[in-house]
Amino acid sequence: MTAPYDPSDREKVVAKLPADLRKELKVRAAELDRDIQDAVTEGAEAWRKARPRPEVDTAGGSSFSTYLPTGLYDKVKKVCKTRGISYNQGLAQAIRLWLDSNPSPRPKPLRVTGARRIIFGNQKGGVGKTSVSAGVAQALAESGYRTLLIDFDPQGHLTKQLGYPMLDIDSASLAKHMLGEARGDLSELLVPIKGGDFEEHLWLLPACKDAFLLDAKLATSRNVRIKETALEKALEPLEQAYEYIVVDCPPSLGYAMDTAIYYCRTREGEEPNTSGIVVPVLAEDSSADAYDMLYDQIQDLIEDLNIDIALLGFVVNMYDSRKGYVATSSLDEWNNIGEPPVLAVVPELKDQREAVRVKKPLLVHAPYGDQSDVMRTVARRISA
Ligand SMILES: Nc1ncnc2c1ncn2[C@@H]1O[C@H](COP(=O)(O)OP(=O)(O)O)[C@@H](O)[C@H]1O
Ligand SMILES: [Mg+2]
Repeated sequence: MTAPYDPSDREKVVAKLPADLRKELKVRAAELDRDIQDAVTEGAEAWRKARPRPEVDTAGGSSFSTYLPTGLYDKVKKVCKTRGISYNQGLAQAIRLWLDSNPSPRPKPLRVTGARRIIFGNQKGGVGKTSVSAGVAQALAESGYRTLLIDFDPQGHLTKQLGYPMLDIDSASLAKHMLGEARGDLSELLVPIKGGDFEEHLWLLPACKDAFLLDAKLATSRNVRIKETALEKALEPLEQAYEYIVVDCPPSLGYAMDTAIYYCRTREGEEPNTSGIVVPVLAEDSSADAYDMLYDQIQDLIEDLNIDIALLGFVVNMYDSRKGYVATSSLDEWNNIGEPPVLAVVPELKDQREAVRVKKPLLVHAPYGDQSDVMRTVARRISA
């Protein structure tokens, strides 16, 4: 049901809201067949009469506009002032309140889908796939999720940075399991990542150099479907033991990357956006070109295989506004994409490089640093 809309007694309201909140509002309003402006009106009316509400994360907001009955926004602003919060925060809380009071009519998924699968991909090297996937996995584990971190890059940076040796070229490995060339259980290869508040919640599957041959072997495999399904088949036996499986992808667009993208697809019965791909990028033009190529690859897989793949968001890494216009305008461009959203902006900081140097997890080396906090923000946003 849509309420009659008379522009003469409504006024335009513009605010900055995070993309995920805007999206949730859009989706929920559609599910309930409501106009967004009526939903926000209801939320605002209820919010200004309600007791102070919990703060909503409004980081990374971009422009949102709607129409409210004339005078309502002034009343909301007044309440914001007495509560000592920004107008954006007030509106965000009003929308949250409406969302919480108007739950989704969708039935909950019936099937248990195993671990949530998050891959960090970008064929460009040096953008932060390894650091961000490791940091986010640590943050997820710190919040109590059993998390498995997969080093899927034959260069093994992740494995080495966490202070572990790479698997021997002749030993069993993920690639051999994917190709059906290994005996034993994949779980035998896992090692615990120790230290910090995540201890006993985080494991690593170390890399092996044999993964350099993976693309070629997948390409020549007689089993056609294996090109996409190999990673899923290999990891399937581990899934029930973990709540999150986080994959640090290689800097390539080959078949290994296809198997990773396929692995993070939204499975039947799985809520949208619970698994998917996060793309670490830099605030510069070459990152935008790289993203275009990755995006095309994802779209091709979606069409060829008739599957859903959720782009969970960007992490703009190594951001330094002192680099001037190139950095700031490029960050604006990432933000303007809107969907997928920018999950977080990671400043260029010494913590990350130092952690690599001393071969310690970031959240152990600098648990109270800004960089660790950003990792927690990304973890929170993808697990919301
Ligand atoms: N936010 C950051 N601040 C400073 N250095 C960083 C940051 N993120 C990553 N680095 C460093 O940049 C280099 C490349 O990052 P890495 O995560 O290995 O990228 P990728 O996996 O995409 O190749 C590494 O030496 C890493 O320690
Ligand atoms: Mg890497």
